[in-house]
Amino acid sequence: MESVPLLKYLVGAGIGARRQVVSAIKQGRVSVNGKTAEGYTMPVFPGLDEVTCDGKAVKFKQPEMLVLMVNKPINVLSTTRDDRGRKTVIDMLPESYRSLGLYPAGRLDYDSTGLLILTNDGNLTYRLTHPRFEHEKEYVVTINGKLAAPDIAKLEKGMLLEDGMTYPAIVKEAPDAAYTYSITIHEGRHRQVKRMVAGLGYEVRALKRIRIGRLLLGNLEEGGIRKLSSREIALLLQN
Ligand code: URA
Repeated sequence: MESVPLLKYLVGAGIGARRQVVSAIKQGRVSVNGKTAEGYTMPVFPGLDEVTCDGKAVKFKQPEMLVLMVNKPINVLSTTRDDRGRKTVIDMLPESYRSLGLYPAGRLDYDSTGLLILTNDGNLTYRLTHPRFEHEKEYVVTINGKLAAPDIAKLEKGMLLEDGMTYPAIVKEAPDAAYTYSITIHEGRHRQVKRMVAGLGYEVRALKRIRIGRLLLGNLEEGGIRKLSSREIALLLQN
């Protein structure tokens, strides 16, 4: 039996949102095995420990796995909070989704747009972000010039960046937009596409992620959010 931190236990039991649970603990309304709880992180064993709030028994429910697709606009951070008060993807969510423990599984730069996955599931996050699973990620990238054939060959061969060689990328020129390419990579290193393009002497003007694994962003509008079905979650994990 795995323990759960008290705060998570109470939120999972549906006592209220994080903020309400924090204040219930602070007000001394929560007890574990007859003793008033003093912290938020104490490990609680569901089914073994007796937890009460306002004297009533509180039963933990494993939260349902939630996976959302977001089309991130520019000037939004792919984090859960920001010390400098900038807008985050969590701020984009409807109020009812904000206290469900969702966080981004992966990252897009502040000035990048496109497909970002939010989930409350640690195992899914691990599968999506650990380099050993190597999910393909496809970006539509507009740069400040036309890539010469030898530059495309370098991207396709693998390039040396300051944190090591990249895996070979797949590069296709967009038929309908100037200086625009589809670039597919397997890794998710910090600012990887921008650094690859900069390494060739160009600059990225716009970068949008349109696919992770086999899951396409499709026609979800910028700023749009929707829940994924189990079939779509499976697509996400395939290459
Ligand atoms: N590569 C980048 O350089 N930036 C992103 O946001 C994603 C991939």
